[in-house]
Amino acid sequence: MPRLMAAVYDRFMERSERAGLGAWRGELLAELGGRVLELGAGTGVNLAHYPAELERLILTEPDPHMLRRLVARARDLRPDTEVVGAGAERLPYPDESFDAIVTTLVLCTVGDPDAALSEAARLLRPGGRLLFVEHVASPDPSARRWQGRIEPVWRHVAGGCRLTRDPRQRMRELGFRLERCEEDRLPRSPFFVRPAIRGVALKP
Ligand SMILES: C[S@@+](CC[C@H](N)C(=O)[O-])C[C@H]1O[C@@H](n2cnc3c(N)ncnc32)[C@H](O)[C@@H]1O
Repeated sequence: MPRLMAAVYDRFMERSERAGLGAWRGELLAELGGRVLELGAGTGVNLAHYPAELERLILTEPDPHMLRRLVARARDLRPDTEVVGAGAERLPYPDESFDAIVTTLVLCTVGDPDAALSEAARLLRPGGRLLFVEHVASPDPSARRWQGRIEPVWRHVAGGCRLTRDPRQRMRELGFRLERCEEDRLPRSPFFVRPAIRGVALKP
């Protein structure tokens, strides 16, 4: 992620956050409890939405420019947070360490999303939950074709973000049960980023 992208990220997302994305985050995270791990936490926008009472909250982020902002925000908003510089594909925790794992707008960007989801499955306890908000490939074939055309350029300007992924197939392959999954539209965002899913997948 270029330094400039990290510097403008919050401002770039502000319209979408105000128009509904912030409310999605709040709804998603409100019921959390226990030991929680967030993947690719970026500048730490979710920090404002985590419930006060958590047994453990760990935020991971591999990009040094985002990480610097994340550390500062965690120190200001939630000093009990552990912040770790690491990619989602491989994390230094034993099997079944967490009650919940959070990904918001991350699986579009990780180098190997299948490996990241495998790692999430390993790290969740049985009955644990994967909570997600992700933008995905459009179900509309014409919009999906446009996403494919735009993706090579978008990747370069948006820190490696892909437009044509959909993590649900991999979640099912790993045995997750989609407890809740809404197909929605990312508020106030360009048409090619708009198709989104938000929900909860249960590890049996
Ligand atoms: C669009 S930002 C989303 C940030 C934050 N989750 C949010 O909701 O605002 C994508 C984030 O994924 C991070 N990322 C990139 N590669 C990653 C990887 N392999 N594992 C985890 N996070 C990664 C980027 O550094 C960036 O912070």
